[in-house]
Amino acid sequence: MKTGIPELDRVLGGGIVPGSTILLGGEPGIGKSTLLLQAMEKIACSGVRVLYVSGEESAKQIKLRGGRIGAASPNLLVFVEISLDAIMGTVTTHHPAVIVIDSIQTVYSSALTSAPGSVGQVRESSEKLILLAKKTGIPLFIVGHVTKDGSIAGPKVLEHMVDTVLYFEGDSRHTFRIVRGVKNRFGPTNEIGVFEMRDRGLAEVSNPSELFLSERPTHAAGSVVVPSIEGTRTILVEIQALVSDSNYGIPQRTTIGVDHNRVALLAAVLEKICGVHLGSHDIFINVAGGVKITEPAVDLGIVAALISSFYDRPIDAGVVVCGEIGLTGEVRAISYIDDRIREAARMGFTQAVVPRTASVTAVSDASLDVCHVRNVSEMMEILFNG
Ligand code: TYD
Ligand code: MG
Repeated sequence: MKTGIPELDRVLGGGIVPGSTILLGGEPGIGKSTLLLQAMEKIACSGVRVLYVSGEESAKQIKLRGGRIGAASPNLLVFVEISLDAIMGTVTTHHPAVIVIDSIQTVYSSALTSAPGSVGQVRESSEKLILLAKKTGIPLFIVGHVTKDGSIAGPKVLEHMVDTVLYFEGDSRHTFRIVRGVKNRFGPTNEIGVFEMRDRGLAEVSNPSELFLSERPTHAAGSVVVPSIEGTRTILVEIQALVSDSNYGIPQRTTIGVDHNRVALLAAVLEKICGVHLGSHDIFINVAGGVKITEPAVDLGIVAALISSFYDRPIDAGVVVCGEIGLTGEVRAISYIDDRIREAARMGFTQAVVPRTASVTAVSDASLDVCHVRNVSEMMEILFNG
């Protein structure tokens, strides 16, 4: 079944599988209720009945939100309830085509004495609901809150019980919203859907590269663009580094959007192999737009941004870099090089720095110049001595 929201269908691996359970996690205020209400409205408009159960908001509040996003289908049933028995009863009577439970932390089973939101309650209610979904074949969305500091009663307990896990990434203060599939029994994982929160709900972003690069500073040291593979598509993201003199005893290494240990390793490689002395400097790395990048191809971007900030030498705005870096400073091969180069060319970039072994066939015209490098020193030569 399609949700009617292509960005969401993509993360789901094409659509919703009958009888499956999908967990949608994220911080409060990030857009979980909005996204699911929009999806339910779309499905309801296709002519089937859907049930949206909320224990978080009053019917009036949901109506207000519905008005804002244009949800008005008579097939969209809203049920404000926290009792597990009452919810299961309603599912049996109305037999909807899809169920949303918003959120699992509010559901209460009278079989247990603990409070709603406790691990016991969350597990008990989820088990019952998942079983109901399996028996009836009705797909089930479960909303789970995750708090910023990671104190989680819900989602982590649930991850292994459900078929699919989606998380809202990033920060509710940004307007971008990224939904990432972190587990999927029926499709690929690591796929992302990109949205923008507007005044009438979440709008799909069909050209994420453009969005992520829209606020990019020009001629600023410490900024470089990396073509990153997210699921099945390539997205250009800006990596930012700030290297500054450390005023305290132990230099700080702070990272947002990339792995902390990876940055520490790359800084050590720079120090030892390339003679870039970061030892007494604080290092901050940020992926603009709130995206998280886990693939090693970002290594070369992190290193380029660090060097750029350290020497206060901006990198040409038309350049992208990608490659994994080994412990001896060598630049190692990465996958999907053609896809990366194609996206860079499409977005108007003119030069790509890639691993020596990468064979690029994507661009035949001279619009984008591909430079192969064997190690970090060769990259420095190209980026900073030209
Ligand atoms: P919400 O879906 O309630 O988040 P969650 O269910 O994850 O807690 O999102 C609420 C935020 O989104 C809130 O800050 C208001 C904002 N918002 C908009 O900016 N535009 C809209 O059209 C809607 C419905 C919400
Ligand atoms: Mg909500």
